Amino acid sequence: MDFIVPHMKKLFLIANWKSYKTTPEALRWLQTINDSQLTIDSNNKEAVVCPPFTLLAQMNWFIKTNNLPIKLGAQDISPFGEGAYTGEVNGKQIKEIADYAIIGHSERRNNFSESDELLDKKVQMALQSGLTSVFCIQNEKTPVPQGVTVVAYEPVFAIGSGQPDTPESANRVAETVKREHQIPSVLYGGSVTGENVHDFTQMPSIDGVLVGGASLDAKKFMRIIENS
Ligand code: PGA
Repeated sequence: MDFIVPHMKKLFLIANWKSYKTTPEALRWLQTINDSQLTIDSNNKEAVVCPPFTLLAQMNWFIKTNNLPIKLGAQDISPFGEGAYTGEVNGKQIKEIADYAIIGHSERRNNFSESDELLDKKVQMALQSGLTSVFCIQNEKTPVPQGVTVVAYEPVFAIGSGQPDTPESANRVAETVKREHQIPSVLYGGSVTGENVHDFTQMPSIDGVLVGGASLDAKKFMRIIENS
């Protein structure tokens, strides 16, 4: 029998900026975090921001310079290593400036025809590069590649709709994924806000949230971190 003590788990609060923000906008977002003197107990919470590739290096510099309690992630990774792959950013390049990579978001599966086979290759590249993949699944039947340690359950109906799944349903999916794939951390994503985040993070099998829209505003994202 598993015995899970809710306050003992480490929560991941992950911001997915999608294709939003220019450099000045990203630096203003970080400046707001810096001005607020945000502190995070790193034993209990890990806050990660996943901006577009163009912003990663400068954000990494700002975070290091100001010693902000925030990690960085990419929103994608090449399925190949370095080589003649025009347009791709590989794991070694990402690892210089980030620790995480979101893989298999439904927007990539649907708009860019990313297959389960391709996503498996991306996960293996992340592993080889020392990056933690945040592997998105749309339901409990989505295949999960070997080596994944963080899964985000994001039902398509809940993304950007203001209509989140219920915490009970999300918890059931998280429980199933943990049992069937031995995944240590399962997050919920889809219309998460500062107001509803705790309803999800208090569920025994949910280890954090992946946040789109509400993460674009630094104050809203800080509220999610605080209320989680
Ligand atoms: P949302 O997006 O928070 O805007 O619903 C979540 C996601 O797509 O990761």
